[in-house]
Amino acid sequence: MAEPPSSRLQRPLPDGVVPEAIVARTEKHWFMIMAAMLVVMMAVIVVTGVAGALHPASNVEIIESQTLHLGGEFVESNLGTAIEPDGSATVRLIAEQYDFVPHCVRIPADTPVKFRLTSADVVHGFLLPDTNVNTMVVPGFVAEVRTSFAQPGEYEMPCHEFCGLGHHAMWTHVSVVPKDRFAAQSSLERTRCAPE
Ligand code: CUA
Repeated sequence: MAEPPSSRLQRPLPDGVVPEAIVARTEKHWFMIMAAMLVVMMAVIVVTGVAGALHPASNVEIIESQTLHLGGEFVESNLGTAIEPDGSATVRLIAEQYDFVPHCVRIPADTPVKFRLTSADVVHGFLLPDTNVNTMVVPGFVAEVRTSFAQPGEYEMPCHEFCGLGHHAMWTHVSVVPKDRFAAQSSLERTRCAPE
């Protein structure tokens, strides 16, 4: 007579009924695995939030997305990088299918930067790789993210929320330049990345 399989999983079940003790033990094991996964995921959220300053924007600001171009903060002449009286920079961008306006912005290095974004149509995303900047851009709301760039550099900025057929081609460009070079640039050079 053949030896019964040693693995419990391969053993034929008596009348197809799994003993209650085995069910209870298996459930307990899966519960412990689920609890461990939850702990790991919570730890990832807490660590990235505390160490990387990666967290959802804490502000809730609403805006009328149909009339962005008619007046207020997001009129065309107000888009791009502006220097505040305290020396910090504010960058205003509109996300729309399938581009960001303006398509390229210059930002001074070593300066506190505040991005303010809104959408003219559907949900888009705004992500600057290797920084804490990562936000959804939701129509009807203003997304605000603060950061600063220690070094000059070039950032390609993909839209990372699927927003339609042209989503994959939706990019903008952020060009971080040394502070003194930035100060010498005209507003056109800053907001269009026009050649210096
Ligand atoms: Cu905009 Cu994807």
